[in-house]
Amino acid sequence: MNLESNLLHNDTLQEPFRAPPADEPILVIAGDVREMIKTIPDNTFQCAITSPPYWGVRDYGVKNQIGAEPNLEDYISDLVSIFSELRRTLKPDGTFWLNIGNTYTSGGRKWRQEDSKNKGRAMSYRPPTPPGLKKKDLIGVAWMLAMACQREGWYLRNDIIWYKPNCQPESVRDRLTVSHEYLFLFTKSERYYFDQKAIKEHTKNGNGKKNKRTVWSINTEPCPEAHFAVFPRALVRPCMLAGTKVNNLVFDPFYGAGTVGIVAKEFSRRCVGIEIKDEYIDIARKRTASVQRNIFSSVSQTPK
Ligand SMILES: C[S@@+](CC[C@H](N)C(=O)[O-])C[C@H]1O[C@@H](n2cnc3c(N)ncnc32)[C@H](O)[C@@H]1O
Repeated sequence: MNLESNLLHNDTLQEPFRAPPADEPILVIAGDVREMIKTIPDNTFQCAITSPPYWGVRDYGVKNQIGAEPNLEDYISDLVSIFSELRRTLKPDGTFWLNIGNTYTSGGRKWRQEDSKNKGRAMSYRPPTPPGLKKKDLIGVAWMLAMACQREGWYLRNDIIWYKPNCQPESVRDRLTVSHEYLFLFTKSERYYFDQKAIKEHTKNGNGKKNKRTVWSINTEPCPEAHFAVFPRALVRPCMLAGTKVNNLVFDPFYGAGTVGIVAKEFSRRCVGIEIKDEYIDIARKRTASVQRNIFSSVSQTPK
C-alpha cells in the first residue's frame, strides 16, 4: 500500500464531505475551522480531541488565526461557537477532549522576541490586559473556557491535570514555574461511550487494575519539523482508547502537525482534521505517512 495515499487532502469546498475510508483513514480539510466545520454533517464523529491555539501565546502567522483576538472575550466566544458546531458533528454518545493551558497577562508588552530554543515564542503582537485584570495576573483562561462551554450546553465530566515533568524552565523570581496544563472531558449527552477498561492503571503492588486517575504525568514531545507546541502522543492515546472503538471516526478541528491522526492510525481509527496553515498540513502528511497501522493490536494496548 502506498503510504502517501493514506492521507486525503481536500482543500476546496466544492466536494461534499466524505468520511475517509478504512484504507485511507485520514482526511485533512484545509482552511478556517469556522467555515470548514459547517461542511461536516451532524452526528459524524465518535470522539474529538484537540488543542486550540492558546490566547496570545503563539503567532501562527496566518490571517484569521484563532488565539490572536485582541479581546479575551472574543477568543472565548470564538472557541465556544466552534465547539458548539463540533457538538453538532459529534454522535449523541460522543466525547470531546480539550487540551488547554492557562496564560498570564502580557504586562503591557507589545511583542515578544523568539528564543534560541523555541522559535515559536516570537510574537508580533501581544494582547492588551483584559478589563478587570492587572499586570502579572494569571488569567485562568482554561477554566473560563471550560465554564463557558458548560453554560453553552456541554456536560463537563473531568478536569485532568497534564503534569509535564520536563516543562520549559521559566526565569521567574516571584512565582512558581508552571508545569501543568488541563485536559477537559466534555460529553454531548448524560450517557455516552466510555471504555473505562481500555485505560485502567496498574495498582501500586502491580497485582490489579484501577480506574485511571485525573493527574497524568507525561513528558512533552519535541516535533523538530514544527515551530509550535504539538501535544504528545501519550496524552492523546488514553483519550482515543476510552472514546472510540476500532475504525471509529475521530476529529481534530485544530489539526496542526497531525498528532491526533498519528494516534488514530496507530490504533486503527479514522481521523478528520481541519488546519488553516498549508505548511502544517505538509508536516502532518509526512508525520502520518510513516506510521504503521496497528491492525493486530487489541484496544487496550498502548504502543510505546
Ligand atoms: C496548538 S496547535 C495544534 C497542534 C496539534 N495538536 C498537534 O499536535 O500538532 C493549534 C493549530 O491551530 C491552527 N489554527 C489556528 N487558527 C485556525 C483557524 N482559524 N482554523 C483552523 N486552524 C487554525 C494553527 O495553525 C495550529 O496548527
